[in-house]
Amino acid sequence: RIARRIERPLVLVGMMGVGKTTVGRKLAAMLHLPFLDADEEIERAAHMPIPEIFSTYGEPYFRDGERRVIVRLMGTGKHTDRKVLSTGGGAFCDPATRALILEKGIAIWLDSDVDTLVERVGRKDNRPLLKTGNPRDILSRLKSEREPFYSQAPIHITSGAQPHHVTADKILKAID
Ligand code: S3P
Repeated sequence: RIARRIERPLVLVGMMGVGKTTVGRKLAAMLHLPFLDADEEIERAAHMPIPEIFSTYGEPYFRDGERRVIVRLMGTGKHTDRKVLSTGGGAFCDPATRALILEKGIAIWLDSDVDTLVERVGRKDNRPLLKTGNPRDILSRLKSEREPFYSQAPIHITSGAQPHHVTADKILKAID
Protein backbone atom coordinates (compact mmCIF):
# COMPACT_ATOMS: atom_id res chain seq x y z
CA ARG A 1 0.00 0.00 0.00
CA ILE A 2 2.73 2.45 1.01
CA ALA A 3 4.97 1.29 -1.81
CA ARG A 4 2.49 2.34 -4.46
CA ARG A 5 2.50 5.91 -3.21
CA ILE A 6 6.26 6.35 -3.24
CA GLU A 7 7.06 8.11 -6.47
CA ARG A 8 10.65 9.16 -5.94
CA PRO A 9 13.83 7.40 -4.85
CA LEU A 10 14.15 7.08 -1.07
CA VAL A 11 17.67 8.22 -0.27
CA LEU A 12 19.33 7.38 3.04
CA VAL A 13 21.84 9.95 4.28
CA GLY A 14 23.76 10.28 7.54
CA MET A 15 27.00 9.44 9.29
CA MET A 16 29.18 6.44 8.58
CA GLY A 17 28.35 3.60 10.91
CA VAL A 18 24.71 4.58 11.34
CA GLY A 19 23.54 1.61 9.26
CA LYS A 20 22.44 3.18 5.96
CA THR A 21 23.29 0.11 3.90
CA THR A 22 21.71 -2.47 6.18
CA VAL A 23 18.62 -0.38 6.90
CA GLY A 24 18.29 0.54 3.22
CA ARG A 25 18.42 -3.08 2.16
CA LYS A 26 15.74 -4.02 4.71
CA LEU A 27 13.54 -1.10 3.75
CA ALA A 28 13.79 -1.99 0.05
CA ALA A 29 12.83 -5.59 0.80
CA MET A 30 9.82 -4.48 2.87
CA LEU A 31 8.63 -2.20 0.08
CA HIS A 32 9.52 -4.60 -2.75
CA LEU A 33 11.73 -1.95 -4.31
CA PRO A 34 15.22 -2.30 -5.82
CA PHE A 35 18.12 -1.41 -3.52
CA LEU A 36 21.26 0.45 -4.61
CA ASP A 37 24.32 1.38 -2.57
CA ALA A 38 26.36 4.35 -3.81
CA ASP A 39 29.63 3.24 -2.16
CA GLU A 40 29.33 -0.17 -3.80
CA GLU A 41 28.66 1.41 -7.21
CA ILE A 42 31.67 3.73 -6.83
CA GLU A 43 33.90 0.73 -6.11
CA ARG A 44 32.48 -1.06 -9.11
CA ALA A 45 33.02 1.94 -11.40
CA ALA A 46 36.56 2.59 -10.15
CA HIS A 47 37.47 -1.11 -10.04
CA MET A 48 38.96 -0.58 -6.59
CA PRO A 49 37.89 -0.49 -2.94
CA ILE A 50 37.18 2.91 -1.35
CA PRO A 51 40.31 2.99 0.88
CA GLU A 52 42.41 2.49 -2.26
CA ILE A 53 40.58 5.28 -4.14
CA PHE A 54 41.38 7.62 -1.22
CA SER A 55 45.02 6.57 -0.93
CA THR A 56 45.71 6.59 -4.68
CA TYR A 57 43.76 9.66 -5.82
CA GLY A 58 42.67 11.53 -2.67
CA GLU A 59 39.31 12.66 -1.33
CA PRO A 60 38.42 15.33 -3.96
CA TYR A 61 38.71 12.69 -6.70
CA PHE A 62 36.49 10.35 -4.65
CA ARG A 63 33.86 13.11 -4.22
CA ASP A 64 33.81 13.73 -7.99
CA GLY A 65 33.24 10.05 -8.67
CA GLU A 66 30.65 9.90 -5.90
CA ARG A 67 28.74 12.82 -7.42
CA ARG A 68 28.72 11.24 -10.88
CA VAL A 69 27.62 7.86 -9.57
CA ILE A 70 24.76 9.39 -7.57
CA VAL A 71 23.59 11.38 -10.61
CA ARG A 72 23.39 8.09 -12.51
CA LEU A 73 21.73 6.16 -9.67
CA MET A 74 19.10 8.83 -9.04
CA GLY A 75 17.91 8.23 -12.57
CA THR A 76 15.66 10.33 -14.69
CA GLY A 77 13.40 11.64 -11.96
CA LYS A 78 10.39 10.07 -13.64
CA HIS A 79 7.50 9.18 -11.39
CA THR A 80 8.11 5.52 -12.02
CA ASP A 81 11.62 5.73 -10.64
CA ARG A 82 11.09 3.87 -7.40
CA LYS A 83 14.05 2.55 -5.45
CA VAL A 84 15.96 2.79 -2.18
CA LEU A 85 19.43 4.32 -2.39
CA SER A 86 22.06 4.40 0.37
CA THR A 87 24.77 7.06 0.14
CA GLY A 88 28.19 7.41 1.78
CA GLY A 89 28.33 9.71 4.81
CA GLY A 90 29.88 12.65 2.94
CA ALA A 91 27.69 12.57 -0.17
CA PHE A 92 24.88 14.78 1.14
CA CYS A 93 27.44 17.39 2.25
CA ASP A 94 28.49 18.06 -1.35
CA PRO A 95 26.32 20.97 -2.55
CA ALA A 96 25.63 19.55 -6.03
CA THR A 97 24.87 16.04 -4.78
CA ARG A 98 22.63 17.40 -2.03
CA ALA A 99 20.71 19.62 -4.45
CA LEU A 100 20.12 16.68 -6.77
CA ILE A 101 18.91 14.39 -3.97
CA LEU A 102 16.61 17.08 -2.55
CA GLU A 103 15.18 17.78 -5.99
CA LYS A 104 14.65 14.26 -7.28
CA GLY A 105 14.44 12.08 -4.20
CA ILE A 106 13.08 11.86 -0.69
CA ALA A 107 16.05 12.26 1.66
CA ILE A 108 15.91 10.38 4.95
CA TRP A 109 18.46 11.32 7.62
CA LEU A 110 19.44 8.35 9.76
CA ASP A 111 20.83 9.70 12.99
CA SER A 112 22.55 8.05 15.92
CA ASP A 113 24.65 9.04 18.94
CA VAL A 114 28.45 9.04 18.65
CA ASP A 115 28.83 6.03 21.01
CA THR A 116 26.77 3.87 18.69
CA LEU A 117 28.65 5.12 15.62
CA VAL A 118 32.00 4.32 17.26
CA GLU A 119 30.78 0.84 18.16
CA ARG A 120 29.49 0.18 14.65
CA VAL A 121 32.42 1.50 12.62
CA GLY A 122 34.70 -0.59 14.84
CA ARG A 123 33.37 -3.76 13.21
CA LYS A 124 34.94 -2.95 9.84
CA ASP A 125 38.23 -1.48 8.72
CA ASN A 126 37.15 0.26 5.54
CA ARG A 127 36.81 3.98 6.41
CA PRO A 128 39.87 5.97 5.28
CA LEU A 129 38.64 9.15 7.02
CA LEU A 130 38.93 7.41 10.39
CA LYS A 131 42.56 6.41 9.85
CA THR A 132 44.08 9.79 10.55
CA GLY A 133 43.40 9.92 14.28
CA ASN A 134 41.14 8.78 17.08
CA PRO A 135 37.90 7.47 15.48
CA ARG A 136 35.68 8.83 18.27
CA ASP A 137 37.13 12.35 17.93
CA ILE A 138 36.84 12.26 14.15
CA LEU A 139 33.27 10.94 14.20
CA SER A 140 32.16 13.48 16.74
CA ARG A 141 33.78 16.36 14.78
CA LEU A 142 32.32 15.18 11.44
CA LYS A 143 28.89 14.73 13.03
CA SER A 144 28.75 18.31 14.24
CA GLU A 145 30.19 19.67 10.96
CA ARG A 146 27.69 17.72 8.91
CA GLU A 147 24.51 18.18 10.91
CA PRO A 148 23.65 21.47 9.15
CA PHE A 149 23.53 19.47 5.91
CA TYR A 150 21.85 16.32 7.15
CA SER A 151 19.16 18.39 8.83
CA GLN A 152 18.04 19.61 5.39
CA ALA A 153 16.57 16.15 4.75
CA PRO A 154 12.78 16.30 5.08
CA ILE A 155 12.68 13.11 7.18
CA HIS A 156 14.74 12.62 10.36
CA ILE A 157 14.93 9.19 11.96
CA THR A 158 16.81 8.63 15.20
CA SER A 159 18.02 5.09 15.58
CA GLY A 160 20.32 4.98 18.60
CA ALA A 161 21.59 1.47 19.24
CA GLN A 162 18.33 -0.21 18.28
CA PRO A 163 18.41 -3.10 15.76
CA HIS A 164 18.30 -2.08 12.11
CA HIS A 165 14.92 -3.72 11.45
CA VAL A 166 13.36 -1.46 14.11
CA THR A 167 14.82 1.54 12.27
CA ALA A 168 13.44 0.29 8.97
CA ASP A 169 9.99 0.00 10.62
CA LYS A 170 10.31 3.57 11.90
CA ILE A 171 11.02 4.79 8.37
CA LEU A 172 7.98 2.96 7.03
CA LYS A 173 5.80 4.68 9.63
CA ALA A 174 7.38 8.05 8.83
CA ILE A 175 6.67 7.83 5.11
CA ASP A 176 3.18 6.37 5.48
C1 S3P B 1 32.53 8.58 3.98
C2 S3P B 1 31.69 7.54 4.29
C3 S3P B 1 31.81 6.20 3.68
C4 S3P B 1 32.52 6.28 2.33
C5 S3P B 1 33.80 7.02 2.46
C6 S3P B 1 33.62 8.45 2.98
C7 S3P B 1 32.31 9.89 4.66
O1 S3P B 1 30.51 5.65 3.52
O2 S3P B 1 31.70 6.91 1.37
O3 S3P B 1 34.63 6.28 3.31
O4 S3P B 1 32.83 10.90 4.17
O5 S3P B 1 31.59 9.92 5.68
P1 S3P B 1 29.60 5.09 4.76
O6 S3P B 1 28.84 6.26 5.30
O7 S3P B 1 28.71 4.11 4.11
O8 S3P B 1 30.55 4.49 5.73
